[in-house]
Amino acid sequence: MAAMRVDGTPTRTIWPLANADAVEIIDQTALPHEYRVLRLASLEEAAQAICSMQVRGAPLIGVTAAYGVALAMAQGDDDASLLTAVDRLAATRPTAVNLRWALARMRRCLLPLAPSTRAEAAWQEAARIADEDVEQCRQIGKHGLQLLSRRAGECGRLAIMTHCNAGWLATVDHGTALAPVYAAFEAGIDVHVWVSETRPRNQGLLTAWELAQHGVPHTLHADNAAGLLLARGDIDAVIVGADRIAANGDVANKIGTYLKALAAYLKALAAAAAAVPFYVAAPRSTIDFSCPSGAAIPIEERAADELRVMHGRDAAGARGQLQQLPCSEAIVNPAFDVTPAKLVNTLITERGCCPASHDGLLALYPEERHG
Ligand code: MRU
Repeated sequence: MAAMRVDGTPTRTIWPLANADAVEIIDQTALPHEYRVLRLASLEEAAQAICSMQVRGAPLIGVTAAYGVALAMAQGDDDASLLTAVDRLAATRPTAVNLRWALARMRRCLLPLAPSTRAEAAWQEAARIADEDVEQCRQIGKHGLQLLSRRAGECGRLAIMTHCNAGWLATVDHGTALAPVYAAFEAGIDVHVWVSETRPRNQGLLTAWELAQHGVPHTLHADNAAGLLLARGDIDAVIVGADRIAANGDVANKIGTYLKALAAYLKALAAAAAAVPFYVAAPRSTIDFSCPSGAAIPIEERAADELRVMHGRDAAGARGQLQQLPCSEAIVNPAFDVTPAKLVNTLITERGCCPASHDGLLALYPEERHG
């Protein structure tokens, strides 16, 4: 049973439909205004859901891609169908390595099999990837709780800043950055979450929505308020997720993460006080040991309309959109940035915590040590 809840009902973010060759997802483009479930019944629908960010967040897009392969196999199980499905899904979003990790695993599992057995095996493997994600996020919560409990002891409270949505909605259940926060809340720690709006896609609104569903105290703020909040001592720790962690510990995450890491670090300079600890929580599927440093991580550029057009509800409650600047304005819209390992105090993974460094990662994942 899922740990996280919608209106009190335990719910995952994606689930297969028995005997229907389809999965259902929570349409994240409708939140926080409307809770809407969507059915995906083909490879193309799965690919579109990832591109349009109806599903989003590194672990969840990996799981959706795995189910996308299962949907493709239900329609054609020869080698060409498998390889086309993997290529189509890999082309949806470039930065979160979980997507490629899940597709590589599906390909490895299915290619050696007899075509007639692939569809069934694909559903099973995708379900295993989803279940493993749930367990890994649960473990991240457990390990992160130790860190947060210590911090709460030092500070006498726990004011946590986060960015984007690295909660339950970005995974299958529990979340990455928010898993330790939920664990702290369950443990009775006096936790308050400072939620960054995260322009232009406003994933902070998703974070506020899911925290509200679980009764976790929180306050939303504009991205540009983060520096002030950190500098004046309102925040005890920053915790974010990741879309890709390079072998040296550099972290790609939602655009704006780097500025928060800098502000947390610079507090020591500006206030002659200790820096605010900056934690990154992510499962193994987010770590790319083949990527030497953040400089090699591809950064997704998204459509200019994400800045140009605001979405919301009008005074009568009807959904609508508002164009806030002319089409003639030049716009750049990088979706991620890279925070250098030096600015990250601790990585929290399903195997425990480590320094953000090559040695730190290899101590947790010794099987990645080659030669
Ligand atoms: O563009 P998005 O919304 O998919 O980006 C998501 C993030 O950057 C999250 O912080 C990241 O995937 C970590 S999620 C557990």
